[in-house]
Amino acid sequence: MVKGSSQGSPSNLSVTKLYTLSGGFKMAADVVKPGPVRCRTCAVVGNSGNLIGSQYGPRIDMHDIVIRMNHGTTKGYETDVGTKTTHHVMYPESAVNLDDTTHLVMFSFKMSDLLWLLKKFDSGDDSSVKRIANKDLVMILNPAFMRYVYEMWLGKRGSHPSTGFLTLVLSLQICDEVSVFGFGADRNGNWNHYFEILRNKNWKTGPHAGMHEYNIIQQLYQKKKIVFFKGF
Ligand code: C5P
Repeated sequence: MVKGSSQGSPSNLSVTKLYTLSGGFKMAADVVKPGPVRCRTCAVVGNSGNLIGSQYGPRIDMHDIVIRMNHGTTKGYETDVGTKTTHHVMYPESAVNLDDTTHLVMFSFKMSDLLWLLKKFDSGDDSSVKRIANKDLVMILNPAFMRYVYEMWLGKRGSHPSTGFLTLVLSLQICDEVSVFGFGADRNGNWNHYFEILRNKNWKTGPHAGMHEYNIIQQLYQKKKIVFFKGF
């Protein structure tokens, strides 16, 4: 991850940039080779219901970096999803409050998302306003990266990449070894969440090209670019 400067920020927010605006990633669906400035091991934890009963918790917690996303929670699901969260990916509509040691990784899909973020850290004199995360641990993904993933990895399939797929491709750029948990349907073919009771049994992948993303993940696994844990 590229460390940015907090100087000149429009608020007291300290931001680490994930890639500079001019790029930093190749314009090809490529996986970067291991190197000394990258993180060692990374667990990317999606929110699939196939985590239930998996007992992956200790295995997930073994990784140096554990990235969760959106409403992905550990409370009550520790045996299956672990307890450690070093990074949490979110956008305003999926935001949850993070503890003081977890990096907030902001996926900004629109301009107002950045304004939302600034507001979250600008509570004026009202100290009762709960900050969403530690202001020194905020990272913002360059929106150009989303375009890169949409065009180069997905061939523009679906309306936009899912949070999980974006996170997976990002982790391949910054970590040597990537393990992937919590992606895909559950054993009954439902694309549900591990933390929800499924009400709509026909729930599929929404606006995302979920099966296409899943197939790419399988290919990465077959080519030994990631380790994939398919769940139960
Ligand atoms: O649903 P949500 O976007 O919060 O889940 C996080 C990510 O986990 C998704 O963007 C998707 O990539 C992945 N996921 C999945 N299969 C599911 C649920 C989520 O692959 N059943």
